[in-house]
Order: sequence, then C-alpha cells, then structure tokens
Amino acid sequence: MKTNHIIKSIKAREILDSKGTPTIETELHTNIGVFYASVPSGVSKGIYEAKELRDNEKRYQGMGVKKAVENVEKIIAPKLKRKNFLRQKQIDDIMIKMDGTENKSRLGANAILSVSMAVCRAGASALKIPLYEYIAKLSKENTVKHKIPYPCFLMIEGGTHAGNNLDFQEFMIMTRQDCFSKNLRTGQEIYQNLKKILIRKYGKLNTNVGMEGGFAPDINLSEQALNLLMETKEKFNDKDANIILDVAASEFFKNKKYKISQKKFSSDKLLTYYLSLIKRYSIIGIEDPFAQNDWKGFQKMVKIADNNFKFIIGDDLTATNIDRVKKAVKKKAVNGIIIKPNQIGTISETIETIQFAKKHNIKIFVKHRSGETNDDFIADLAVGVGAYAIMAGAPVRGERVAKYNRLLKIEQELYSS
Ligand code: PGA
Repeated sequence: MKTNHIIKSIKAREILDSKGTPTIETELHTNIGVFYASVPSGVSKGIYEAKELRDNEKRYQGMGVKKAVENVEKIIAPKLKRKNFLRQKQIDDIMIKMDGTENKSRLGANAILSVSMAVCRAGASALKIPLYEYIAKLSKENTVKHKIPYPCFLMIEGGTHAGNNLDFQEFMIMTRQDCFSKNLRTGQEIYQNLKKILIRKYGKLNTNVGMEGGFAPDINLSEQALNLLMETKEKFNDKDANIILDVAASEFFKNKKYKISQKKFSSDKLLTYYLSLIKRYSIIGIEDPFAQNDWKGFQKMVKIADNNFKFIIGDDLTATNIDRVKKAVKKKAVNGIIIKPNQIGTISETIETIQFAKKHNIKIFVKHRSGETNDDFIADLAVGVGAYAIMAGAPVRGERVAKYNRLLKIEQELYSS
C-alpha cells in the first residue's frame, strides 16, 4: 500500500437537508484533492440507532449541527492529520475510539459518518477506480459480478412522513426487470400513472407529496392505498412490479398495542391483518411489520414467508448494527435488513454488518432517509456490497433521483462497451 495518501486537513459546515433541517457536509483535503460528503437524517428513527448530534439551541429549532461541525474540525481533524486515507478501517476505528460511547453520542454519528464517507471517496480516487468498485474491494465482494440492485420506488406516503391519516409509512413498488434503466422507466411510468388515477378519483389536491416524494393523498385506510397501487401497476405482471411496504410499526406501537385507524391490535391480531392484506394484494415484502422489540412478531412473520410473500425486513429492529443483526439471525426474525449508514455511523461498520448478514443469507436493502442531501453515496454502496435492492424514494425530487441517476451512470459504465 502506498504511504503518500495523506489527509492534510478536514473542514465541515452546516448545510440544509431536503426537509430544510440542518445537516453536516465535510470536506477532506488530501494530497490528491478534496473530497466531499454530506449525511442524511431521519424522522422515524429507531431507538437502536447511533445518535446524531444536535445543538439544542434556539437557532434552527434546536436542530443546528454547529457542535458536530466543531467536533469534525477541532477534535477529529487533528487526530486524523497525516493519516493514510486508504486505511478506512483504521480511520473509522480511531473515530470510534475517540468518541468512546456505545452510540456515538459524544462526537455525533453525523460528524463521524461524514468523515468516514469522504475518506472512502478519497480511497477510490487514489486507486483511480469508481466508488462502487472501491467499496466492493473493502467488502471483499467479487468486482467482476457487479449487479445493479432492484429499485423499490415510493408511491404513497403516510405515517410520520406525510400530513395525511395513513398509518403505514410507505407503499412502494419494487421493479424486477432485467436491467436498471428498464426498472427506472417502469417505476416512473407507474408513478406518473398513479398521479392521473389520483386526480381522477380524488382531485388534484391529492397529488401533493410527502417527505420522500411519494404522493400523500387524503385517505385513511391502507386498503385504499393498496387498491391504488394495484390499479396503477395493472399492466405489469407480478414478476416485474410488486408491492413492498414499510409499515414502520414502532411509530404506531403505544402502550403495548398497535393502533391502526383508531383500532387497537395485539401482535397476533396484527399478523392476522397482514395475512389478509397479503392474500388480497401482490405484496412481496414488509419492512418493520412489528415494533423494534417485538421479536416474536417478526419470528412468526418469517414463518409465513413463501414464494409470493418473500421478504420480512428489519429496519428499526436491526438498525444496521451487527449485534442486532446477529440477534435477528439467531432468532430467525428476518430474512432481509435495511442498511442505512447513518444508523451506525461509519462505513467500516456498515460493511461489517452487511458481510455478516450476507453470510447468513439475509437480503440487503440499502435505504435513504427522509431528510436527504444530493449526496449519492448510497447508490455506489448498494452496487459495491452487492445489495439485493435499493430504496431511494419516489422517482421525483432532486435528492431522490440523484441516487437513481447515479445508478443509471453505473449501469452504463458496467454494461455498455
Ligand atoms: P426516516 O424514515 O428516514 O424518517 O427515519 C425511515 C425510512 O424511510 O425508512
């Protein structure tokens, strides 16, 4: 390994994410150039996620990240100065140690991740290879067999992501045709068709969108949203376009009960409800069907998976955290996991979690957050680690299509001569 790949200095700044909430952008100055990274932020966060540092001062409704910026410039930067940025794991370990907490609450997962991502970009550039290829190397993935993951496009939003009364957070369509550009086109056509259906059925006021670009119509029942999805994907068969849900059940789990449309459900009753939905609609998978500590619910759900209803995906349950994923594997509680680098806070830990999961035949779904920036890192991450799927929101809005457009570019690089 060359030793002249040196970090010279690190700068950071407070910028706004797609919700208008502050987040952090970091600039890594090296002897081969300057590398940037910015981090996203969620609103329906799980309790097992690493902590993003917020200022809790009057400015920006308490959401400022001036302290995180300061931590990058005054605490992390001096320690990483003159370090070899090709040593991703060593650098991530230094930051983890410097932070010293279980959940990165001292320096902030937002501060640490922004540096970790920029270091990764510098590494790829030093080796003169694309970022996805560098991530594949770090992940010990077979770089000859790169595949673009299947996209899951957000169509309808509810829960904490929209100003309507839908209990479930995301109603998505996963397209699984033979190449990404076809999948993107199908997703876009289904989305635009949905807009026409919404206007016809509910009027144009119901075509406003939620935080991640999905429509947020004024409807109350999951069945109404599912009927809309079935109608809009009508001309596609189930192999090409399926429904996938992010129920985000932790958000409506209160006082030991799940509350849907003003009715209270036990875990078993909720499972029965899911079974009735799966029978009626072509649902291929559900993310977070139960709350983040309801292991039994997840375990029962995995048992009903079959060829049509395939994926039981942990998000709040597993939080990109290897210990949580180990527990989920041991308990047979999931067969897929969401990967969000900011749930754990470094690229090395993200990759370790993915490697462990893949070894145990758990499918990888790389996902964005509701507050995004135009940083397209997760597109390269998804390809590099050989993820099964990517969820980057609706096929609209700059911060969402940044990821899909990056995948188009990667596809062109990989497959056109
Ligand atoms: P969040 O949403 O980013 O607001 O936490 C979670 C998700 O989109 O899965």
